[in-house]
Amino acid sequence: MPLITWSDKYSVNVKSIDVQHQKLVNIINNLHDALSSGKAKETLAKTLNELIDYTKKHFAYEETLLKSNGYMAFITHKSTHDNFVKKISQMHFDYNSGKTNMSIELMNFLKDWLVNHINKTDKEYSQHLKSKGVN
Ligand code: FEO
Repeated sequence: MPLITWSDKYSVNVKSIDVQHQKLVNIINNLHDALSSGKAKETLAKTLNELIDYTKKHFAYEETLLKSNGYMAFITHKSTHDNFVKKISQMHFDYNSGKTNMSIELMNFLKDWLVNHINKTDKEYSQHLKSKGVN
């Protein structure tokens, strides 16, 4: 069973961003599957790496869209992104250096962060982007 099930309730009403959010959900689900089925450390490290890479790509895309459309809360939104990237990069470093194991707690942290970020922080820009004709 997937850790997160995508549904339209997570839509921010911008097609390209919804597609990227769905991909992030898929990567987190893959990481959860790998952890639950006792996959090798290399598989977990690779999937965590994929999550970091894709998260950075998504954040860069979203930030460009927000900035180029004059979104007022851009700086606050970007700093939320930067803090999350710092956290998952540290998580990756700790995992690779054997300081920590992947755990259900870490998976729940990733799930909660993403779902809360989409539902609250990302949804706050929906109306603004809509008013600029972005969809
Ligand atoms: Fe979709 Fe602000 O990340």
